[in-house]
Amino acid sequence: MTLTTLPKPATRDKVATTGTMKALVYRGPGKKALEDRPKPDITAPTDAIVKITKTTICGTDLHILKGDVPTCQPGRILGHEGVGVIDKIGPAVTAFKPGDRVLISCISACGKCVYCRKLMYSHCTTGGWILGNKIDGTQAEFVRIPYADTSLYPIPDGADEEALVMLSDILPTGFECGVLNGKVQPGSTVAIVGAGPIGLAALLTAQFYSPAEIIMIDLDDNRLAVAKRFGATAGVNSADGKAVETVMKMTDKRGVDTAIEAVGIPATFELCEKLVAPGGTIANIGVHGTKVDLHLENLWDRNITITTRLVDTVTIPMLFKTVGSHKIDPKLLITHRFKLDHILDAYETFGHAANTKALKVIIEA
Ligand SMILES: NC(=O)c1ccc[n+]([C@@H]2O[C@H](COP(=O)([O-])OP(=O)(O)OC[C@H]3O[C@@H](n4cnc5c(N)ncnc54)[C@H](O)[C@@H]3O)[C@@H](O)[C@H]2O)c1
Ligand SMILES: [Zn+2]
Ligand SMILES: [Zn+2]
Repeated sequence: MTLTTLPKPATRDKVATTGTMKALVYRGPGKKALEDRPKPDITAPTDAIVKITKTTICGTDLHILKGDVPTCQPGRILGHEGVGVIDKIGPAVTAFKPGDRVLISCISACGKCVYCRKLMYSHCTTGGWILGNKIDGTQAEFVRIPYADTSLYPIPDGADEEALVMLSDILPTGFECGVLNGKVQPGSTVAIVGAGPIGLAALLTAQFYSPAEIIMIDLDDNRLAVAKRFGATAGVNSADGKAVETVMKMTDKRGVDTAIEAVGIPATFELCEKLVAPGGTIANIGVHGTKVDLHLENLWDRNITITTRLVDTVTIPMLFKTVGSHKIDPKLLITHRFKLDHILDAYETFGHAANTKALKVIIEA
């Protein structure tokens, strides 16, 4: 059943929302504005309206602002991460009620289509990554969440909301696309190329499996220093073009069992092709906008696996438990905090990470 064939909610008039709210709106390549927008309304029985308490900015929002994401059209409210409180529910929502505190997944899942039944929520035929892309997102005072029962997660009393904002997108992305797909094992050797929030999320969650070595590779010494604090066994600045040589020295000329690509450019994927040991896995996380060379002439006899994935966020419940039991502390990734009124300053800070040393910025609505 698709959205268009769903019956109209009987209580539609009762749930109509009035008034305006502040929202960060994409106005075309290079342009954004903090605007007054109408508060969202329930449009399908499975919707919920969530009052945002905390949200954040993702590297993907910067991609949108560069004009790299054609599905996101001018006029769209950005943001696909956040926590909040249920304001209203549609008549078919059974798992939540107004007043419940919830974590928003960056992926909306109907729970019923062929991909959702395979737990590939990212490919949900009527959902997937739509928030802050094809429908209005979370960088606002209120957001409409479709398929609320299967796209929201309850926040237990006493949980730290700021830490949980990291579970909307970056923690599951690093874990699912990098660590799980990369088959990180006890005693294994891992290289993570890219020490941005996603690479660092892979670094935090790789440690669930006790690999012997985690080598972090980046061009930014500050981010490499952060990575060391987060548990990397080595940091390699690849600006000198000698990363392969350095990693080979560190690994007895074998290379690494898992090479995680967390940048999204040809040079870093090709670096992973050179770093992977026989029998190893290249786990791609980066969003690639241009073609990348696959060097099968070097790889054909090396028994390697290459994986790709769009985050499904199926591991949110598991990650919730690891945060609750202090196995990982995603709050480490938060460097700056802003009020929603100052979200343009938050974008400035996040967009100039090399100077501001920003990782994740929290925006309080
Ligand atoms: N697959 C998914 O579902 C998914 C989900 C979210 C994000 N992503 C993607 O993951 C990637 C990483 O996201 P992020 O938010 O951490 O990005 P980011 O831009 O904050 O971090 C990238 C890091 O790579 C480093 N870098 C750049 N060029 C490099 C080079 N030549 N060699 C080594 N390091 C280099 C930068 O210094 C930076 O620290 C992006 O491509 C993003 O779009 C994928
Ligand atoms: Zn994101
Ligand atoms: Zn689905």
